[in-house]
Amino acid sequence: MPKLKIVTFGCQANELDSQRIAGVMAREGYTLTEDAAEADLIILNGCSIREKAEQKLYSRLGTFQRLKAANPGLKLGVTGCLGQREGEGLLRRFPYLDVVAGTGDIPAIPRLLARRESTGACPSPGAPLDLFPDDIELVRESAVTAWVSVMDGCDNFCAFCIVPHTRGRERNRPPEAIVGEVAGLRARGYTEVTLLGQTVNSYGKTLTPPTTFAALLRRVDAVAAPAVRVRFTTSFPGDVTPELAEAVASLPSVCEHVHLPVQSGSTRTLARMARGYSREDYLGRIALLRRTVPDLALSTDLIVGFPGETDADFAETLSLLETVRFDSLFAFKYSPRPQTPAAAWPDQVPAPVQAERLARVHALQAVIALERNRAWIGREVEVRVDSQEVKRATPLAAGRTRQNKVVHFPVADPMVEGARVWVRVTEASPYHVKGEMFRAA
Ligand code: SAH
Ligand code: SF4
Ligand code: F3S
Repeated sequence: MPKLKIVTFGCQANELDSQRIAGVMAREGYTLTEDAAEADLIILNGCSIREKAEQKLYSRLGTFQRLKAANPGLKLGVTGCLGQREGEGLLRRFPYLDVVAGTGDIPAIPRLLARRESTGACPSPGAPLDLFPDDIELVRESAVTAWVSVMDGCDNFCAFCIVPHTRGRERNRPPEAIVGEVAGLRARGYTEVTLLGQTVNSYGKTLTPPTTFAALLRRVDAVAAPAVRVRFTTSFPGDVTPELAEAVASLPSVCEHVHLPVQSGSTRTLARMARGYSREDYLGRIALLRRTVPDLALSTDLIVGFPGETDADFAETLSLLETVRFDSLFAFKYSPRPQTPAAAWPDQVPAPVQAERLARVHALQAVIALERNRAWIGREVEVRVDSQEVKRATPLAAGRTRQNKVVHFPVADPMVEGARVWVRVTEASPYHVKGEMFRAA
């Protein structure tokens, strides 16, 4: 049987696409391998969100090219957002590639490979898909935790972002398909699902009849609770509503964690980014969520050194971090992306200034995260086990609380991944807490 290795770059949407690619290739007889040396086909599922993400892929491609030189039977492909963006250009640059496919070409990969083999041709990626390929059987990586696609694409066109160009217009999956998938996962023993979309909480507006993400959560909860935990990402600030806050607060399966990318704390910068909300709007949505959902954890994404960002704008970002006190965050140096308006602006921020701002964000957040985690010391939390280190004298298990906090705790006997237990928190650090298990959930 031929063997396929997939290397995924980028976000959860790309991870899910890798599982779709594995599903499409399984129909052709391919089974998955981790080992490049035994692979017949290696697919690099690429991300274009920042230049660095693209460079990472190119450097891995170089390694696999050397492998192919020694083993000419090996086939190599590039897919995903990078495949979509670069298209045929990749074949001119790397003529040894056997397939280049975009985000909409996943079902066509076997056909593209065959065409390349017989004619040497490899056409440009088509348009991103306008439907969900519900007929593709996913090859999931885990037997207990699953990504579930809710919507894909994005219509927001933030001034820095490539996603609307690589994933196309927003489209929503019918609620029946989503609920059916979650019910099926539960029946197969899954204990966690994460509902995925670029702006997941904008879900439903364009469906007939229109619906809301909160209504979807209620329907998902009805088939998930109590066995399955439900998470969702990524939320868009402009679409945080009282109905959503109420759903997170009241639905037993839905975890108390919202990832709400703010990007900047400066209203002036937010306007230049075309995010569609001000600092005050954002703080208002945070206040609504916190007032409605007890023990809510909040995380965010930030961009530092966006074109035209002054010291005063950046100070507003730091002050927003102090005001909100996020549990965790991802911060990025602005990276100019082709096809996006901000890339052409003359007032680019020099790299050393970006680096200094990034370091300041990380230093401040480490202090805040430690304080947020310390507040959990002495409390009892429900933990879902992710993994464990069994090599130690006392095995150490790792899991997550409903707030998505990583918890380490010693266990007498090895634990089953996906199991739920109760842990008393005893110690805190900025990026995880430690505790002692006192009973199974
Ligand atoms: N849909 C989500 C974000 C998806 S991209 C939202 O709207 O919030 C994930 C993160 O990558 C973004 O939140 C942003 O912080 C970062 N990002 C996107 N484009 C970037 C760029 N050109 N340079 C640096 N970071 C970027
Ligand atoms: Fe990109 Fe903005 Fe859409 Fe998020 S909302 S995917 S940042 S365009
Ligand atoms: Fe990257 Fe595409 Fe996701 S650009 S972050 S893989 S949507």
